[in-house]
Amino acid sequence: MEDYKTVQYSQTTLTELMIPSYSNFGGKVHGGIILGLMDKVAYACAAKHAGNYCVTVSIDTVNFLAPVEVGELVSLLASVNYVGNSSMVIGIRVQTENVRTKEVKHTNSSYFTMVAMGDDHKPAPVPGLILRSPVEIKRFYEAYHRKELTRYYNSEQARIKNDAEIEEALKLISNERCRIELDNN
Ligand SMILES: CC(C)(COP(=O)(O)OP(=O)(O)OC[C@H]1O[C@@H](n2cnc3c(N)ncnc32)[C@H](O)[C@@H]1OP(=O)(O)O)[C@@H](O)C(=O)NCCC(=O)NCCS
Repeated sequence: MEDYKTVQYSQTTLTELMIPSYSNFGGKVHGGIILGLMDKVAYACAAKHAGNYCVTVSIDTVNFLAPVEVGELVSLLASVNYVGNSSMVIGIRVQTENVRTKEVKHTNSSYFTMVAMGDDHKPAPVPGLILRSPVEIKRFYEAYHRKELTRYYNSEQARIKNDAEIEEALKLISNERCRIELDNN
């Protein structure tokens, strides 16, 4: 019988204290530190669902909505939102807590696509997903829809790369902040 797992089975939370060595010249936490933690929690969640070693294959847009301060506790909450054959979309919510004031901030969210790998180092099938709430159904559908949009976006990008003429490009970017200085040699 085909293997299915619940969303809850692999739900993962990673909490880490933001220490001074994580800060940038402005005294806030480096975005790269947060991205690294997001990759870590995505891996833990995906590997638990897959029961296999996984790799990160794609990261959706990450918008930093608010700075993360040194001394705050950062919690990353990860769930499997969608599964394909060997791929899984992991939804990650990042929030910070100021331990003294108890203020909780949502700083960013993103979707990581992870692929399960078999012993032969090739993509391996993952269990299906049991959806037990309207929220889980909505997240699965949203991921499915984003996949369709990405397919369309990628085909448009490929078309522009192959077909865009320089005259057309010059017309479209004429109001942008660039100065054309073609090298005639
Ligand atoms: C992941 C990897 C094995 C996929 O190889 P591939 O030849 O594209 O394999 P497939 O075509 O069989 O794709 C496997 C799955 O990945 C998905 N996938 C591949 N590229 C993708 C992308 N850019 N975005 C989202 N999903 C992608 C496919 O849709 C497929 O999903 P499915 O099995 O659920 O249908 C390969 O791209 C790889 O090794 N990438 C490097 C990963 C890595 O090392 N990450 C860490 C970076 S430091």
